[in-house]
Amino acid sequence: MADIDHQQLIDPNKPLLEVRDLAVSFGNPSSPSSPRVQAVAGVNMTIYPRQTLAVVGESGCGKSVTAMSTMQLVPRPPGRFDGGRALFLGQDVLEFNENQIRSLRGDDIAMIFQEPMTSLNPVYTIGDQIMEAILLHQKVSQSEAETIALQAMKDVGIPQPEQRLKSYPHQFSGGMRQRVMIAMALACQPKLLLADEPTTALDVTIQAQILELLRELQNTRNMGIMLITHNLGVVAENADVVCVMYAGRVVEYANVFELFDNPLHPYTRGLFQSIPNLRESAHRLTTVEEIVENPAEFVKLDGFEKGLVPWWPDPPANVTPNLADPDEEYILHEISPNRWVGVFRSDHAASHPTRVPDLDYRRSDT
Ligand SMILES: Nc1ncnc2c1ncn2[C@@H]1O[C@H](COP(=O)(O)OP(=O)(O)OP(=O)(O)O)[C@@H](O)[C@H]1O
Ligand SMILES: [Mg+2]
Repeated sequence: MADIDHQQLIDPNKPLLEVRDLAVSFGNPSSPSSPRVQAVAGVNMTIYPRQTLAVVGESGCGKSVTAMSTMQLVPRPPGRFDGGRALFLGQDVLEFNENQIRSLRGDDIAMIFQEPMTSLNPVYTIGDQIMEAILLHQKVSQSEAETIALQAMKDVGIPQPEQRLKSYPHQFSGGMRQRVMIAMALACQPKLLLADEPTTALDVTIQAQILELLRELQNTRNMGIMLITHNLGVVAENADVVCVMYAGRVVEYANVFELFDNPLHPYTRGLFQSIPNLRESAHRLTTVEEIVENPAEFVKLDGFEKGLVPWWPDPPANVTPNLADPDEEYILHEISPNRWVGVFRSDHAASHPTRVPDLDYRRSDT
């Protein structure tokens, strides 16, 4: 397999990342006979240059594992790639050898991790850590690396970067450490940024600044972003396309405006209903089961009348998927053009030409 040419010109209309039927499971080392946990069970998504794909879904649904797989960062064992591909510029990253993956990480794809506190080394200065990332990936001298590091720190709004370069992680607040992580990720100008809850530790003002900065950098560098977040406000403001995951699968995939206008899958609808409303008092939130178990809810949904039932780990009482292989019960169905919903496999869904979710759309295009 040929190495990726890091300097190659990127075609803005060709996908940067194509995740295809990705399946990842984890074993339990202390109990080898117990069944493996299927963390990701056939995920599909596509990211284009200058596009932000938001990945949302409840805790444990497989967002981080999907992102980490695209850099081979899933610890194996206990993790295992069970199937599928993660194509970066057309090459399957899951097949990369050690050298190829090392040159991919940081150079082409960078990740901002969910837990910045655990990702920085407490015994090295911030400057050493940012410069190490630069020296590893770029052919520059020590002093040039320092200049790039200082600029990266300025870019993410770290005040007095010359002094802060000599500080240790414990001398930084949580928000500042998060900025350091972002500076490290961006210093090598990656083509694709995997941002796993990049602003969760930050207050709203700083959060807005960081997201604004990411948007600016995205536009000047044509960077693609996978934005993993629980914050639907952040999704509404930043995403071009949204991928909703549940239980290791994609249950809805659409452009951000269509998704917010008319969420289709009961899980997505439940997610939107869980946004607190200051004007209405609710004693308790609607559960997804309540929506799923109520067939009247399906009837209201466009497209679902054709015998399509939204996929759900436990089939509702009125659905009996007549399948020999339970792994075959789910299908990601293009319910209307450029709009995908996870449904139980039915004759209608199975006879429909399948197209993997692939939306070459950015909100600035319209
Ligand atoms: N190193 C690991 N060893 C064992 N199981 C793991 C490991 N990493 C992830 N898992 C399991 O894989 C599943 C998906 O985890 P993942 O971290 O992708 O969730 P997530 O969607 O990112 O959740 P969160 O919103 O809480 O970050 C979970 O059931 C989790 O327990
Ligand atoms: Mg996570």
